[in-house]
Amino acid sequence: MSKPKKLKLGAMIHGVGGGWEDWRHPDAITDASVNFDFYKREALTAEAGKFDFAFIADSVHITANSSPHYLNRFEPLTILSALAAVTSRIGLVGTLTVSYSEPFTVARQFASLDHISHGRAGWNVVTSWLSGSANNYSKDEHPPHETRYRIAQEHVDVVRGLWDSWEDDAFVRDKPSGVFFDPGKLHALNHKGEFFSVQGPLNIARSKQGQPVIFQAGTSEDGRNFAAKNADAIFVGHETIEEAQSYYRDVKGRAAGFGRNPDDLAILPGIRPVIGRTEEEAERKYQETVNLVSIEKAVVALGRPFNDFDFSRFPLDEPFPDLGDLGLNSQQGSSEKIKRLAKEHNLTLRQVALRFATPRSQFVGTPEQVADTIQQWYEQGAADGFIIGVGIPNGLQDFVELVVPILQQRGLFREAYEHDTLRGHLGLKFPVNRYSDLQQPVNG
Ligand SMILES: Cc1cc2nc3c(=O)[nH]c(=O)nc-3n(C[C@H](O)[C@H](O)[C@H](O)COP(=O)(O)O)c2cc1C
Repeated sequence: MSKPKKLKLGAMIHGVGGGWEDWRHPDAITDASVNFDFYKREALTAEAGKFDFAFIADSVHITANSSPHYLNRFEPLTILSALAAVTSRIGLVGTLTVSYSEPFTVARQFASLDHISHGRAGWNVVTSWLSGSANNYSKDEHPPHETRYRIAQEHVDVVRGLWDSWEDDAFVRDKPSGVFFDPGKLHALNHKGEFFSVQGPLNIARSKQGQPVIFQAGTSEDGRNFAAKNADAIFVGHETIEEAQSYYRDVKGRAAGFGRNPDDLAILPGIRPVIGRTEEEAERKYQETVNLVSIEKAVVALGRPFNDFDFSRFPLDEPFPDLGDLGLNSQQGSSEKIKRLAKEHNLTLRQVALRFATPRSQFVGTPEQVADTIQQWYEQGAADGFIIGVGIPNGLQDFVELVVPILQQRGLFREAYEHDTLRGHLGLKFPVNRYSDLQQPVNG
């Protein structure tokens, strides 16, 4: 299987960080999650590093036990629209859930971002795992896991159909003749399905990159199939290269099984590099983050992939409890992995919670060491690129200043942007409008 041309890099801009205690780091900006200047600075740092895209994660339910970033943060499309105005090349990707949204609205919102940014928008399609989300959207029940992925398929099909409502040359805008558009190039979708009934057409045209790029992050069976069938790029979390290689082979194989070219699907593990100018400095920085985490907060964090389950009812230093089916209807892939690891290594609740809250990844080290690991994963069939998440203040800046130049010197990563659309950066083909018989140019 040939590799896509270059390594792909995304930056997850995540306010005060994903952990419960990241905000307590001495250098942390405590209101970062609702601080536009912080988001702007991070996006511009990623753009200076020639990153493919910036990414804003999301979910739609909190409790008082949620992590500080989740408690008080920007809605993705809103912050991405603001970032579109202050950046010029970097892709702008945001999460929006299919379980609590209408395809017509989603299609409109991402198409608008795609126009505002001149073809740099991407949608991270998620199904939402927190059952409390239902209560924020006038629903009695959170749909079961398998139903959520069925909803996802129909939702994405409808959104993509709506995005093609207007052929690329539909708008004539000819003042002398008074012809604003060609009615033959406007198409209603007339969709009637199991979950959605949408007539169309959409009230916004396609952008410079044709359609926004589709991202996904599913690790369960249903999630992998959905991603392999629909996504242009996949986010995933791995602890070891072996685990990443096995996932990579599996999902690329599934993509081929759906009749796709596996190279059209970029697999991007999420990593949290900790970089020091020396090994000791990197280790010290990593330990600083570990020392911030109390066992009480680690136990709360562990509950998250299990639908905010309360683990504090179990003794800390006894074998990890038998949880039965718990987690199957929330983050299925992650929760099953935690149960499996605990059993395989005979871990206690304390050990599992600390390992989950402060994972010691292979991306802690000097710039050369981190670049070596990135290169190894990229060249040995574990990744097409990475999404860089940082829990340490200035972590993205360190990565851009210290690691990116090494990747560039090694010819692994671009030195300058060659395109101005997200699709162009990722090397994806321009999607020809389903109603159009015109040949379109490749890339933006
Ligand atoms: C880098 C990365 C970013 C993610 N962002 C989100 C997100 O913003 N919202 C969300 O609901 N899930 C997100 N996920 C996905 C969940 O963590 C989880 O993988 C997903 O719910 C998969 O469900 P499944 O295992 O049941 O298929 C992300 C995953 C990764 C690896």
